[in-house]
Amino acid sequence: MRVPGDKSISHRALILGALAVGRTNISGLLEGDDVINTGKAMRLLGARVVRVGEGLWQVDGVGVGGFAEPSTALDFGNSGTGCRLVIGAVAGCPITATFDGDASLRTRPMSRVLDPLQRMGARTLRVAEGGRLPVTLQGARDAIPIVYEPPAASAQLKSAVLLSGLAAPGETTVVEAEATRDHTERMLRHFGAEVRVEPFGNDGRRVTLVGQPELVPADVVVPADPSSAAFPLVAALIVPGSELVIEGVMTNPLRTGLLKTLDEMGASISFLDPRNEGGEDVADLHARFTSLKGVEVPAPRAPTMIDEYPILAVAAAFAEGTTIMRGLHELRVKESDRLSATAAMLSGNGVEVEIAGDDLIVHGRGRVPGGGLVATHMDHRIAMAALIMGLGAEKPVAVDDSGFIATSFPGFPAMMRSLGADLVERI
Ligand code: S3P
Repeated sequence: MRVPGDKSISHRALILGALAVGRTNISGLLEGDDVINTGKAMRLLGARVVRVGEGLWQVDGVGVGGFAEPSTALDFGNSGTGCRLVIGAVAGCPITATFDGDASLRTRPMSRVLDPLQRMGARTLRVAEGGRLPVTLQGARDAIPIVYEPPAASAQLKSAVLLSGLAAPGETTVVEAEATRDHTERMLRHFGAEVRVEPFGNDGRRVTLVGQPELVPADVVVPADPSSAAFPLVAALIVPGSELVIEGVMTNPLRTGLLKTLDEMGASISFLDPRNEGGEDVADLHARFTSLKGVEVPAPRAPTMIDEYPILAVAAAFAEGTTIMRGLHELRVKESDRLSATAAMLSGNGVEVEIAGDDLIVHGRGRVPGGGLVATHMDHRIAMAALIMGLGAEKPVAVDDSGFIATSFPGFPAMMRSLGADLVERI
């Protein structure tokens, strides 16, 4: 089987395509609601964005600094990535734009991006209480390059500063104490920008962008999303008799923390035909039902699997023994408070679970009673993790809302059914 294109790369392909001069062809674009909203935003900012086939999109860009002032607010729906990256891209252009989103996105912190962008010359004209959306931003006429140390390990924050730095003369530097996904850096280079990456400390990186490049259009082939592959992968591990090959999954080392952790839990997963496609490492992942054991997941691994904790928690519930996941404070500011939502998902289905500070502790018993109704809090990953738990649980598991799954994984219900899952949707 295949899963849809990577969400992070899909957002970035649309944004960099819109900032290049000329036509970018994208194949394998994730056509989920989050990415579609980024495409609509690029149109409102003056780029031509056209769907020419399934997963095939053309973007005619306007050049660095060339965004037009949008006639209406940019609505990012459920997507923190789309919103924060585009805030960064707009911050370097002399236009004013309003950013908004759904009830979930309106609860998420935006000051973390606005603070460095203000240092780069952008002005926040309006922001809701607590640094939330809706936000109205006036981009800088003359963007200022900065050296920035993000207070949180966040690829969105790093990317927002780098995208704003495109318009600044000289070098914009982001110093990360812990390396986060590097798709922006890779793709900026792919579009012709000069980016230097040096190691920093034990786990960090120093990323420097040379500003005011002429971005040249570049074709982008989007690999399959490892964060989406995680769901059928864990399903195969917990349902007796399962065996599955997921094709062409991106194995960028800054995204493979879950695979490393599952390996430590004893999972039978192998990488078949490892290769490079479109500048990213990919492999076919072969997974088979295995008895798993509890492990400790160290905090420094979190950036490489930040979206995978809900599904790892499900795997941990089916394991024998205790799994301790450390350093999960960033989960509190995802589409939901994912730390609480994950714990509630498990406890409502008979799994013993604790939150201790920023750590999540799951006491696996090799079996899950199930039978619960999980509150998804507008969070696609909680919905998918809960449904996968239901596949292996003794009684069915229900979710209160499956609608948000389409933000990142359209076709998830159909795909799970094709693998044999008994999935019923009631309106
Ligand atoms: C993303 C970064 C992560 C991740 C999100 C996608 C990206 O967020 O949770 O799903 O594409 O840059 P943070 O940067 O806030 O950790």
